[in-house]
Order: sequence, then C-alpha cells, then structure tokens
Amino acid sequence: MNTINDPLELAEGVYWVGVIDWNLRDFHGYETPRGGTYNAYLIVDEKVTLIDTVKDQFADELIENIGRIIDPSKIDYVVSNHVERDHSSSLPAIMKICQNATVITTERGKSGLFGYYEEEGCGEWNFETVTTGSEICIGKRTLMFIETVMLHWPDNMQTYLKEEKILFSNDAFGQHLATSHRFDDEVGPDAIEEAEIYYANILMPFGSRILKYVELLHKLDIPIDMIAPSHGVIWRSSPDKIINAYINWASGKTIPKVLVIYDSMWGSTELMARAIVEGVRFTGVEAHLFHLRKNDWSLLVKEMMETPVFALGSPTMHNSMFYTIGGFLTYLKGLHPKGKKAVVFGSYGWGGGATKQIEENLEKFKVELMEDAFQIKFRPTSDDLQACRELGIRLAEIAKSESNDTLN
Ligand code: FEO
Repeated sequence: MNTINDPLELAEGVYWVGVIDWNLRDFHGYETPRGGTYNAYLIVDEKVTLIDTVKDQFADELIENIGRIIDPSKIDYVVSNHVERDHSSSLPAIMKICQNATVITTERGKSGLFGYYEEEGCGEWNFETVTTGSEICIGKRTLMFIETVMLHWPDNMQTYLKEEKILFSNDAFGQHLATSHRFDDEVGPDAIEEAEIYYANILMPFGSRILKYVELLHKLDIPIDMIAPSHGVIWRSSPDKIINAYINWASGKTIPKVLVIYDSMWGSTELMARAIVEGVRFTGVEAHLFHLRKNDWSLLVKEMMETPVFALGSPTMHNSMFYTIGGFLTYLKGLHPKGKKAVVFGSYGWGGGATKQIEENLEKFKVELMEDAFQIKFRPTSDDLQACRELGIRLAEIAKSESNDTLN
C-alpha cells in the first residue's frame, strides 16, 4: 500500500521528483494565474539518473524528494536538457552532493552551464556531451538524446527512455499549471488549454522548427507511450493529442474570430472598441474585447494565435501611443505571429500620432493592414460609432474568409 511519503512512479523505477510552485504568477513576464511546476525525474537503474533539476528556491525540496527514493549522493548521471534557470539552477546544489556524477548535455548546454555556474564550481564537474541519436546505457535501460535547437533556446534537448517509451521533452509540450495531479487525464481539458497558452507565449516564434522537429520524431520512429515535460502534467492518455495540437498551432491554423485590443484614457477609444465588437457580433462571428490593463496578456497572445484578424486601438498621449500599447507591441514583436491582418483605431485631443506609430510598428512585424487607421477627435459621434460598427462587420468578413481550421 502507498504511504503519504511515496514518490510518484511513472513506470517501474522511474519517478517524478519535481516541485509544484503554487504561487507562481509571473514567469519571466508571462502571467501564470494558475501557478506552475518544475518537473524533474529520477531513474533508478545500475546508473542512477536525474533528468533536469528545478528552480533553485526549491532545491531542498528536490533533494528531499530524491531522498525518499535513494540517497542523493548515489546519483551517477544528471541530464541537463536545458540551461534556463528554471531547470538548471538547482544543479550546483545537486552536484555538491554527488560530486562524482557526470552531467550529460549538449555542447551548447555545457557552454550555457559554464555561463551560469562557473563561479559555483561548474569547472569541477564531469561532463559528457551528446548529440541527436547519442545513446547512453544506464543498466537495464538506455537513454537516447534528441537536440531540439531553438525549442526554445539553442541548447534545448530531449531525452528518450527507450525501454519505457517515455520522452522527457523538457519545455516542449509543457503547461504552466499547478495542480496536485500529475497526468493529463486527471485534469481534463485544462491540460490542452494551458498547453496552448504556453505554446503561444513560449514557442509561437518557432513554428517552422516545431514542424521539422515533428518530422524528426517520425524519422526516428520512436514509439512514445508517455511525454513527460518539465512543466505541468505528463501526457499519458494520448501523447499523439498534444503532438497533433503542436502541428496545428505551428501550422498557423486559425478560427473565425476577431480580437479588439485597446487601452483608453477618458473612454473615447473604449467607445470605439465596443462599437467595433458590436459590429462583429452582429455577423455572428466570435469577438473578444481586451483592455490591456485589465486582462492577462498571456491569454491575449493565445487568442491572437487563434485569430486571423485583430483591431488595435489607442488614445494619443504626449504625441504618442499609450504606454500599454507600446509594451504590447514589444511583446508581440518577440513572438512575431505570422499571417495576421489588422486595423488600427483611436482617439486624440489636439494632436494625433498614436495610430500612425502603431501602424508603422505592425508593418515592421509583417502584419497586413487591411485599411487606413480610423481616428476621431475627442469623443466619437453617433456617426463615428456607426462607422466603427461597420468596421467590425468588415473585420468579421475577413475573419470568416481567412480562417483555415478548427483548433483542437
Ligand atoms: Fe522551462 Fe526554457 O525553461
């Protein structure tokens, strides 16, 4: 019978030893209202192997979790799939305990670990570097490695446990979701919903690389019973479901929907935004209204990924676009969503400027402007609002004609 201290076993001798960060609300700027996890895994074989570590504030918890299974000083291999600090910053604490262990990583991973931890003794660690297809026997089992360059850092790799058919996918296929459950079938639709938000905010810029990665998985012809990412729940019910969702997202599949994104100083731009939404709704097409100071941008970016067209509105302040619009455009630039159409709108008092500035930015990101910006002075008249409704109808028509699939 299991006791309260029993670790979670994915397969015989393969354990989850990660931690749940219930209070995580911001992951390097990406809002995470549902918290997150840092997953690490332990394989007990002739060579005891730890796959990834956790954020350093949880190093003691990781060591305690390992200690429930085996003396942590007995670890022989530590696989570092990715150097970003949410997975590597407990490595110095681990390597102090098992000083003879070997760190397995890519050449880029090794260089990144030196960049982060040279002053924490990294130069004293044993390293073995691997590339795609490299294999290491750990006793009854074999690890195989797959480099996943730019998914989402240059050093990323994944580890495949051949005998158990488990793919330790690191960031790919993750979700930021703190839950007492560890498997996708235990959390229902939350898993795929959070995976989509995660994809949009972390992986959207790398769609073509994702498609090549999926091709590589097919070429390697490795059966996968379980995908164990480094964040969120483990995909055991149907690993194909999340792989197919990644293919859809990476292919830029969109549904008929219009986003209206805005900020407002004295309500004029908001009146315009609401009238545009009315026009969209009149057609029966789905509309989402996002005030940039009242909504999570991480969710907005997920909606952006799904939609072919959006409207972006700003008041002019100090001859410039409103500061939240500038921040949002910077966030969007890094994610460079592809194949989007947009229109810009806004209000001004004595001198405009915001709409032109926004249009210049969107053109730089290769967003196609479907018509000239619509701007009004001071307060929109009833005619202006009618023009906004008509604009909403045109946006809806574009959403219908440009959308190319049903997601999920
Ligand atoms: Fe979960 Fe790229 O770190």
